[in-house]
Amino acid sequence: MDLKLFSYDCQAAEGYISCPEGVQGSNDMYIHYNTAQILTIAAVMEIEDPLVYAHCFRVAGYAVTIAQHMHLMPAEVITIEQAGLLHDVGKVAIAGSILNKPACLTKKEYEKVKAHSVVGERVVRKIVGLEHLAPLVRSHHERYDGFGYPDGVSGDSIPLGARIIAVADAFDAMISNRPYRKARTITASARELELCSGTQFDPKVVQVFLKAMREDKEPWRTFTDVTRAFFRYLSIFTSIYIG
Ligand SMILES: [Fe+2]
Repeated sequence: MDLKLFSYDCQAAEGYISCPEGVQGSNDMYIHYNTAQILTIAAVMEIEDPLVYAHCFRVAGYAVTIAQHMHLMPAEVITIEQAGLLHDVGKVAIAGSILNKPACLTKKEYEKVKAHSVVGERVVRKIVGLEHLAPLVRSHHERYDGFGYPDGVSGDSIPLGARIIAVADAFDAMISNRPYRKARTITASARELELCSGTQFDPKVVQVFLKAMREDKEPWRTFTDVTRAFFRYLSIFTSIYIG
């Protein structure tokens, strides 16, 4: 595993695919336990924002597509998938009246919304077994040119997983209806990604995503075998609205 790709250390990354000390059971069971936690948290997010659950699933799907096309290690792909599912968890701290406001936000409201990446990082850091996702949740609104938030870091200083989620997140936001605007077309959204390549987004990630979009029929449904197996286990996969 290339540790430069991520801002957490090897032990934390491997902790995700190994049972922690004292936990009985197979690695598979432990991974499924993590997935169960993540899906539960994602469901809680829907209480204040009815659109966010499906959004997080699609973002995770796109992010996995990108990560696989970048030939990342399986553990890295799973980490990115899980961070994609939880990237907006900090929105639980924002009132639904702000999240679903059918008009422009005030400066104060926008500052509250922006805080969700830091709140999300704090939430994820406290969940045993998911701590390594925290840097990706914190940095998913950083921009490649350094004008993002919360830290204003740029380029390769942003964890690769966060740069991938940023592209997946922006694309899904553009092609989705929001209370304050209508969805853009896929073509227009892809063009916007290209326009913002090198400024807002990592150009390599944009390039891989657009190529993958041309090759994959349903990139928003690309989940890792781990998550797919869990969906099957619960027999809920076909009943989840993700398209
Ligand atoms: Fe976000």
